[in-house]
Amino acid sequence: MSALPQAPASLPDFAALAACWHPVAYASALTDKPLHTRLLGRDLVLWRDGAGTPRVLADLCIHRGTALSLGRVVDGQIMCPYHGWRYDGDGRCTLIPQLADPTRVPAKARVAAYQVVERHRLLWVALAEPRFPLPDVPELVDEGWTTVETGPFTWNADASRQLENFTDLGHFPWLHPGLLGDPERPVVPGHTVHVEGAVLRYDVVRPEAPNSRDFPVFGNEVVAAPERRSRYALHLPYTIALRLGWGGQAGMMYLFASQPVDHDRCTGYVVIARNYDHDQPDEVLRDFEDTIFEQDRIVVESQRPERVRFDLADELHLTFDAVAVAYRRAMRAQGLAHASG
Ligand code: FES
Ligand SMILES: [Fe+2]
Repeated sequence: MSALPQAPASLPDFAALAACWHPVAYASALTDKPLHTRLLGRDLVLWRDGAGTPRVLADLCIHRGTALSLGRVVDGQIMCPYHGWRYDGDGRCTLIPQLADPTRVPAKARVAAYQVVERHRLLWVALAEPRFPLPDVPELVDEGWTTVETGPFTWNADASRQLENFTDLGHFPWLHPGLLGDPERPVVPGHTVHVEGAVLRYDVVRPEAPNSRDFPVFGNEVVAAPERRSRYALHLPYTIALRLGWGGQAGMMYLFASQPVDHDRCTGYVVIARNYDHDQPDEVLRDFEDTIFEQDRIVVESQRPERVRFDLADELHLTFDAVAVAYRRAMRAQGLAHASG
């Protein structure tokens, strides 16, 4: 029997990606119960300790391999549901109820613990010492800005595909006509990508998308003179801070970050802030993003191969794909992905 043909190895490098911060949940989703998530192919359990500080461990009890996330939080520690062993936030087993002295725990009884921080309304985990800092997003702590959490958006696709979709300007008129683009104006405005280490920056003056009747989410009602300027900062590997100007004081900021769950699965988080329309119900922006991301999901999940080709010869790139080209180059230059072998 012959083996199925294997795709060439054009892969995000999970070992290198371990040393980066990744979002794993909205901070608001982590309450007094354990929360399971998956990052770079590893199962994790999150909870808040006695001080409310988020903690994260491998989701695997050292005793019989049970998922700790099925257990519960007791005195700030996570308790396995099967035999009641307890672990602290550093992964140390602190209590084995079956022992005559339950605190006489063997020193090797511990599970892997990882770094976690709460920032920008998200929980970010690094599985190894992170190489790059998280971006600064002052709008999210500014009282003059109103913040909305949208999604999360889980797709059967690699995180690099979800990220590239967020940066892809050429698809707006086709996939989101009337919402983000106009099929009568499909030409992508010129833009130059500036690479500063692990950060890619570029500005785009986009053709105007007027407020639609269903989703009045934009800052300018009229299509005419004011420019809609989009300022992107793409932080490798999967985070984008996008600032939309409307030609005046009104501004919007999008923090997009994709969680690499597995090679064929990701979850996108989009935190949106605006300094106008403070009374607009959160549902308007949430529904708008649900619509956009659902239109995107169907297309991106159909892409083959499932992962972005980091070898530039593998797909056809034109000048308006400058961001994708720069992104793929930068991911390779930073050792976060490899071209086909
Ligand atoms: S499997 Fe976790 S305590 Fe036994
Ligand atoms: Fe899209």
